[in-house]
Amino acid sequence: MANDASAAFDTLSPAVSKGSLADPFTPPADSSLWRKNFLLGAATASYQIEGAVDEDGRLPSIWDTFSATPGKVLAGDTGAVACDHYHRWEADIDMLASLGLEGYRLSIAWPRVMDAAGRPNRKGLDFYKRLLNRLKEKGITSFVTLYHWDLPQHLEDRGGWLNRDTAYRFADYTDLMSRELAGTVDAWATLNEPWCSAYLGYGNGHHAPGLANDRFATQAMHHLLLAHGLAIPVLRGNDPASQKGIVANIGRGTANSDSAADQRAAHLFEVQHNAWILDPLLKGAYPQDLFELWPGTEPLVLDGDMQTIAAPLDFLGINYYFRTNVASDGAHGFRDVPLEGVERTQMGWEVHPDGLRDLLTGFKKTYHNLPPIYITENGMASDDKVIDGHVDDTQRISFLKRHLAAVDQAIKAGVDVRGYFLWSLMDNFEWAFGYERRFGVVHVDYSTQKRTVKRSAELVTKFLKERKAKV
Ligand code: FCB
Repeated sequence: MANDASAAFDTLSPAVSKGSLADPFTPPADSSLWRKNFLLGAATASYQIEGAVDEDGRLPSIWDTFSATPGKVLAGDTGAVACDHYHRWEADIDMLASLGLEGYRLSIAWPRVMDAAGRPNRKGLDFYKRLLNRLKEKGITSFVTLYHWDLPQHLEDRGGWLNRDTAYRFADYTDLMSRELAGTVDAWATLNEPWCSAYLGYGNGHHAPGLANDRFATQAMHHLLLAHGLAIPVLRGNDPASQKGIVANIGRGTANSDSAADQRAAHLFEVQHNAWILDPLLKGAYPQDLFELWPGTEPLVLDGDMQTIAAPLDFLGINYYFRTNVASDGAHGFRDVPLEGVERTQMGWEVHPDGLRDLLTGFKKTYHNLPPIYITENGMASDDKVIDGHVDDTQRISFLKRHLAAVDQAIKAGVDVRGYFLWSLMDNFEWAFGYERRFGVVHVDYSTQKRTVKRSAELVTKFLKERKAKV
């Protein structure tokens, strides 16, 4: 889609637009990223940026409760204000457009748009309508995620994702949103990263709602995937012209040695991180190895559930961040063995672009029905500072360049990757790590809410401008 040319690219600093800034980003001439139909955008999520948690009828979510619980989030941070995007959305969309970004992936806060009786909350709905209409006016392709972790607290009070009924409530919510927003959304994603919701939320308790039990994790995953499967036909019925998919985080696991036990450990790592989600979606069955890792945790599955979950997808969203090196734990599982002397980010995550390429090419071999792929998140945190009005995020520039090169390699190896969204448009509330970890390509000063475009964003803009100018 074409960008609003008048607004696009006007944030380029003089150094970048004159071409006098060193450019360690622009992909080589033979890269598939030069294709004009390869969508380049940025992503955010409601709880991480919106703030305004008790305005206009928004109900509490599990993240409001969790972040208000002492000891759960670093420095006691919460999403109460975040980037104040609920009030600053117009300027933020202008900024997105001025960066020349072609796609925007956002999520809807379920507790903002529906009350506890399932009735629509008009004020909350209007917020998203205004925003999506503005994106349309600017020619920005919209990817809307229905569930990026902010479950209404009243549903958690009735068991949350451990309660099968939540899947049906999600289908109702999907019905409302797709009736209200039909025609303004280019692509719908049902869930963001069900692995994180199920495992971090119910398996180890690092995320809301903070429960820790392997059996809970597998049952929550089943209900999440069921919710997804119930939602897909609802979206098809209400908004036929849009694309429908889901977003999964994937992890690369490599073995610490050639021993059979360590090789098996790496396999189990990838079963737990990838096949647990992708097998039910694309093969209609859970990987049996999962229950070798977690004996006795098989979820309760009713007749027909697996067919529902395996509803055909128009696209698969993939979020990729790092690789984990593992060894056998001496029993049925794996343990992390952090490698020394490797590059890491502020999160401590290893920078390993080849992992993205290898996973994508591996999925193409494993799943004969692999849908077209969008990289719906990739990026890194660094301790960015504004100095003389600029943020020189050198590591991020190199990170993005190398990961985009990995995507190009996957495309050349035959994987149908159609776009890439930077995580994130701007610094935001990084869940259990609060505001300390900065993932944005735009810096946010939380005391003033001032946005400062980082060097990485400027170079992405420069590339997009050059790509657009190419005949
Ligand atoms: C992903 C989440 C996203 C963000 C990044 C860093 O797991 O989907 O909201 O926190 O990690």
